[in-house]
Amino acid sequence: MSTLALEAINVSKRFGDLQALDKVSLQLRQGSIHALLGENGAGKSTLVKCIVGFYVPDDGEVLLGERQQAIANPRDAHDLGIGMVYQHFTLIPNMTVLENLVLARPHLPAVIDWRKEREAIGARMQKMPFQLPLDVSVNQLAAGEKQKLEIVKQLLLNVKVLILDEPTSVLTPNEADEVLGRIRDMTRDSGLSVLIITHKFREVMTYADDVTVLRRGKHAGSARVADTNIKFLAELMVGSEFTSTALARESVAEQTLKLEIDTLKVADDSGKAAVKGLSLQVRGGEVVGIAGVSGNGQRELVEALAGQRPQFYGEIRIMGEAYAGQRADLLRHGFHCLPEEPLRNAAVGRMSVAENLAFRRFDRQPFSFGGWLRRGAMRAAATQAIADFNVRPPVPGIPIGNLSGGNVQRAILARELSERPNVLVVANPCFGLDFGAVSEIHARIMAARNAGTAVLLVSEDLDEILELADRILVMSGGRLVYETTPTEADPVIIGRHMAGHGEETHAH
Ligand SMILES: Nc1ncnc2c1ncn2[C@@H]1O[C@H](COP(=O)(O)OP(=O)(O)OP(=O)(O)O)[C@@H](O)[C@H]1O
Ligand SMILES: [Mg+2]
Repeated sequence: MSTLALEAINVSKRFGDLQALDKVSLQLRQGSIHALLGENGAGKSTLVKCIVGFYVPDDGEVLLGERQQAIANPRDAHDLGIGMVYQHFTLIPNMTVLENLVLARPHLPAVIDWRKEREAIGARMQKMPFQLPLDVSVNQLAAGEKQKLEIVKQLLLNVKVLILDEPTSVLTPNEADEVLGRIRDMTRDSGLSVLIITHKFREVMTYADDVTVLRRGKHAGSARVADTNIKFLAELMVGSEFTSTALARESVAEQTLKLEIDTLKVADDSGKAAVKGLSLQVRGGEVVGIAGVSGNGQRELVEALAGQRPQFYGEIRIMGEAYAGQRADLLRHGFHCLPEEPLRNAAVGRMSVAENLAFRRFDRQPFSFGGWLRRGAMRAAATQAIADFNVRPPVPGIPIGNLSGGNVQRAILARELSERPNVLVVANPCFGLDFGAVSEIHARIMAARNAGTAVLLVSEDLDEILELADRILVMSGGRLVYETTPTEADPVIIGRHMAGHGEETHAH
């Protein structure tokens, strides 16, 4: 019987009418990695937030080692050596890496000696599993680097227990292997104990020692990973009710040219070129997949398409007409877009789900009449979309920021997919979704394609691209560097182009 680093016993938490956690227990063994699995909205984030004192549980207790500990707030948790990386980034975007690392400390001196801090943190950074440039502003970091920074931030605080809420959602499989591999080394070498939430069975099977599954707020089961298998875990997650919704690719007769991008150049936040003269075309009834490692201009490309970032050269045309990304253009052309990090980029957290769902059309019929917002109509449409996309809880009136991470994603997808789009741009649509939802969303994207929508799918998940795309393009260093089809695609060659080494074989 190994020692426990942390134990949660019969933790319950209720939000209004919703019993988010119902007597949930979990044991984290010292020096191990414990995975926490469950569908979107199962209560995973709520449980770890109760453990670190972000929420006060209604009932139950948290023990640290043998001792019961009252953890009333995240600062208590920190003083006890528990650190947490939240599901959404908590970095301050317009500050540097160094500033973020220093300001993360709960006890700061009145005057900060930045030169001394820089030296001290620089020295300790050498021993961290990942190195990050101290003087770069956070908003210039790619998603994967931000995630590494969140983890380093906790490790520099000397935590003994590290809690990670879906750290790999924003990472490519290679990055995830790097991060989890390094973390596993730390559990073996320095006795770090890790509780990690993930939706990826592969990561559970490869890196975790133990696993606990939650189902609708209840403890569904726990096991040693060595004694279990994916099928068993999937059944614990959803019961035996799961049926795959995979949809076949149909041949589409008439393929009009719907989206054209012509030598597009877009700058990143610092003014440097991020998209460097990119051209592509998407026809109706076609999914064009852009594969690539995050930070190669995908975000800037999608933001330019969504009208959220100016283009400084080139042209975007929809149905042959120049498109400037204004809301009127979006509506007229049936252009829909799902950007990355929807809670930050495509939703207003404190506004209700219904209001967020109505964003595209809040000033049009039937939501507006003579300048008045018609809340009844808005709510009715929201209720329908919530039912169609299985957003939980199915309550239009609650702030969207109170939904679980995966349910925010579903709600935004409901908004962008409910009217049939003419052109659809999606970036990492299944980020943070449980496996049932992934198969559902893939079916919806395929259905839109089969019905004639032109789909541009930007994704770091190569499996997703191989499943959905008719043509695959690889983006690296702001350019499209390779094109192939799903039938001819070789993951090794694609991976090489993603890493920017596509021409290696021809080099002298
Ligand atoms: N602050 C809050 N107020 C009201 N309801 C909340 C709040 N936080 C969470 N909930 C609800 O509690 C339930 C559990 O949410 P939680 O975020 O723990 O799910 P999760 O398992 O982390 O899901 P995901 O995989 O989507 O991140 C959800 O139904 C969610 O809407
Ligand atoms: Mg969550």
